[in-house]
Amino acid sequence: MNPESATEHGALELDAADPGHRELFDVPPAQGGDYPEVAYFAGNSLGLRPKATRTELLEDLDAWAGLGVEGHLDAGRPWLPYHELLTGPAARLVGGLLAETVVMNSLTVNLHLLMVSFYRPTRSRHRIVIEDSAFPSDSYAVRSQARFHGYGAEDAIIRLRPRPGEDNLRTADVVEQLSSDVALVLLGGVNYLTGELMDIPAITTAGHAAGAIVGWDLAHAAGNVPLALHEWDVDFAAWCSYKYLNAGPGALAGAFVHERHLGADLPRFEGWWSTEAATRFEMAPESRPPASADAWQVSNPPIFSMSPVRTALEIFDRIGMETLRARSLRLTAYLERLLAGVTVGRVITPADPVRRGAQLSLRIGGSLRAGELAKRLRFEYGVIADAREPDVLRLAPVPLYSTYHDCWRAASALTEVVPA
Ligand SMILES: Cc1ncc(COP(=O)(O)O)c(C=O)c1O
Repeated sequence: MNPESATEHGALELDAADPGHRELFDVPPAQGGDYPEVAYFAGNSLGLRPKATRTELLEDLDAWAGLGVEGHLDAGRPWLPYHELLTGPAARLVGGLLAETVVMNSLTVNLHLLMVSFYRPTRSRHRIVIEDSAFPSDSYAVRSQARFHGYGAEDAIIRLRPRPGEDNLRTADVVEQLSSDVALVLLGGVNYLTGELMDIPAITTAGHAAGAIVGWDLAHAAGNVPLALHEWDVDFAAWCSYKYLNAGPGALAGAFVHERHLGADLPRFEGWWSTEAATRFEMAPESRPPASADAWQVSNPPIFSMSPVRTALEIFDRIGMETLRARSLRLTAYLERLLAGVTVGRVITPADPVRRGAQLSLRIGGSLRAGELAKRLRFEYGVIADAREPDVLRLAPVPLYSTYHDCWRAASALTEVVPA
């Protein structure tokens, strides 16, 4: 790196040359320290609020005040087909067809609803492959699915571990584990702890060759890296909207089901939103599910929870994931170069940009715990990072609103906290 870029002045110059879209977001105040706003690196946990969210949510709320039940049809954004406003932007974000994509529920709920259809174990093929460092919710979900079908979780779940001395999984090692007793592969597209981006198309192809269904948890991938789920032949996927998508705490999640499974005779848990919209109000006792991912819906959707997702997805639609990824690669590479001079820990995220998203994870050395370090960064320097105890600090420069100056602040704070 040009040594000048590593200075505060250099960071500000990079920001002038390569600005993001910070003006679209509310950045929390720093509450003390040298700068008015926090340097926010926790967008991989909870994204910042788009400024338009408040206005547009209030519009939807006011439609209720002004119209009561008639808002279902007469609101500016009518409630009855409201979820369809989200389908297009969500489909474009993950590279799905319109019919393959739906926004509904929350992430783990969607994983369960999809596993009802796609985890159908038999005696000879009942195992589920996950990462050993899968997010705990996924681990609990697959274990409970195995038990639900009468299999012992310890026997049914194969947990993938990196080789001794390594931090990340190798694609070839993942593929080698896909034996003939594997019913389902369910991996994180981007690992929540290490930030490793998996080779989704290669693993999906290998899973299919082994006779397994391949599903992806895209919580850390959606809005972080470009995705092409339809083209990659992914069977199903689910993601949340509160991280890189900036739709707010606990925001509604997305789900994808590949076209070749739509309309197929699959087991599915149903409710009145699983039936086709055209005849829903005939109130028939039997559902008539559409040949689309909408068939996995169960209940009528919560409009005031959909509203922030709609606003947030429109930003991605407007700017485009490829443009964001390009800036993300530049920002993360810059942070990585600055972190090379930090002695508090070492980056465990893959060094190859193709194998990672925005996030860099630092494994902290010595006796300092990650939580303690995160607290010091927050209260002494106004830098918000995320700690996973005991020893991982996660920093995600988000291309929509993070700056080179934020990266410089984080690296300077880490250098000061534990000097060389
Ligand atoms: C990879 C991953 N899977 C699942 C979840 C759980 O999501 P939810 O609580 O929305 O079901 C999270 C939450 O952060 C996550 O990061």
